[in-house]
Amino acid sequence: MKLLYNTVGVIGTGAMGQGIAQIAAQAGSTVKLFDTQAGATDRARDALAAQWDKLVAKGRLDAAQAANYKARLLRADALNDLAGCDLVIEAVVERLDVKKSLFSSLESVVSEQTVLASNTSSLSVTAIAGGLKHPGRFAGFHFFNPVPLMKVVEVIAGLKTATATSTALAEYARQMGHTPVHAQDTPGFIVNHAGRAYGTEALRIVSEGIADFATIDRILKDQAGFKLGPFELMDLTALDVSHPVMESVYHQYYEEPRYRPSVITAQRLAGGMLGRKTGEGFYRYVEGVAQTSAELPVPTVAEIPPVWVSPRAARRSELLQLLKNLGASIETGASPSMNALVLVAPLGFDITTVAVVERLDPARTIGIDMLIDDAATKRRVLATNPATRSDMRDAAHALFARDGKAVSVIRDSGGFVTQRVVATIVNIASDICQQGICSPKDLETAVTLGLGYPLGPLAMGDRYGPTNILEVLFNMQTVYGDPRYRPSPWLRRRGAIGLSLLHQEE
Ligand code: NAI
Repeated sequence: MKLLYNTVGVIGTGAMGQGIAQIAAQAGSTVKLFDTQAGATDRARDALAAQWDKLVAKGRLDAAQAANYKARLLRADALNDLAGCDLVIEAVVERLDVKKSLFSSLESVVSEQTVLASNTSSLSVTAIAGGLKHPGRFAGFHFFNPVPLMKVVEVIAGLKTATATSTALAEYARQMGHTPVHAQDTPGFIVNHAGRAYGTEALRIVSEGIADFATIDRILKDQAGFKLGPFELMDLTALDVSHPVMESVYHQYYEEPRYRPSVITAQRLAGGMLGRKTGEGFYRYVEGVAQTSAELPVPTVAEIPPVWVSPRAARRSELLQLLKNLGASIETGASPSMNALVLVAPLGFDITTVAVVERLDPARTIGIDMLIDDAATKRRVLATNPATRSDMRDAAHALFARDGKAVSVIRDSGGFVTQRVVATIVNIASDICQQGICSPKDLETAVTLGLGYPLGPLAMGDRYGPTNILEVLFNMQTVYGDPRYRPSPWLRRRGAIGLSLLHQEE
């Protein structure tokens, strides 16, 4: 297919502008670079040339091809030099006043047909277009860092963006080797909105004293298959980037409780514990390696008491089979004997509430997270309640570690770590669908490519059972009395029939 834009202007040649210029030149466009900082465009061209030379040296790029790419990068010394561009992409400082005045100056330079795009990550596309004479040719074109490796781009339609503009930008994204997703102009667009669940809920768990950073990271990686735990991820992104995003989405949604940021990151940001780049974040880094404390050893227990399983346990038959496989002696009576270890597996409820409601002896009651099929996880998570006897906790820990699988023991809370985080991810994603910000299909694509989750949030909901997710949320809402856990109407409606199933229908 014919290249959509032969000449592309890139304004702002920092981290993002450089990356965008790279993929545009590689697609075949002539790229004109403009930056107000002296020497910035030359530095950007030199940096890109050095990258291509490195690829040639490694044998991954043809020398002639590299020379072509380099020849396509031109320097624009003034805004006027962008006059002949078919498309201009702006990646300057994230300030509405700067971007607005830049685009209004640009409109007097370029033709009426030139498409204008902003790489803003947090400002309203409609607001940036506010001063334009021809806002129909303007859209958000939100790339991720590093641009050449992060293969997704959000094409954001402001209130006045013409459909043809979004369609053309999406097509050009494909020509650059990227996957476009279409989003309405809403706070955080898709990726930064959908991403509000993972870290935020993990921070809430820490703030409640349920588990520490390292335990939460281990649980989410081993149980739900995330590549990085939320605290590892925040250390990588750095809090001077991620905390302002949390605040921005929260405030732009007029303090919607679902997006409420945490005082933990506010304080750490103020204290300069930003993450990897400052050598200390949630973890301390020595020569780039995170220092983590060792896991608690499996306790040595002389005799494991018989186990009684609550009739209301989630995945009860799987739990009984697991106990059998682990060689436990299982009680089958209607109520536990005097010395039995009492096992409950609630969804969303805390262990104390379950013990009280089911009239169980809290001193012997332990919870296990059965949201996810045991065979599909690399870790089991147990929860005590404040009255649980240490011999009962140790017996449960030893029993569930018998086959060598890792076990974490956490404190009582409404919903276990994985339940809370997964349910929050699915709920926020459902609300994105409810608001019509994007199609369910684009949501899944944006989250898997932009956030690197093992599954799209809707597929995640289907994998673990939409009704289970709903049960977690309903019960957590009861435990916490907090509107942040109220299920999105979209999730409530679709819960019974499956979430990602509906991709075809929408
Ligand atoms: P940066 O600070 O690395 O680069 C910005 C460049 O713009 C600098 O070279 C600066 O001299 C230049 N500049 C500032 N005002 C200008 C003006 N009026 N005219 C021309 N040049 C000007 O910033 P970065 O990280 O590349 O971000 C740029 C934009 O991309 C921002 O809107 C940011 O929110 C967005 N963004 C950043 C991401 C990131 O991870 N860094 C990810 C996605 C979007």
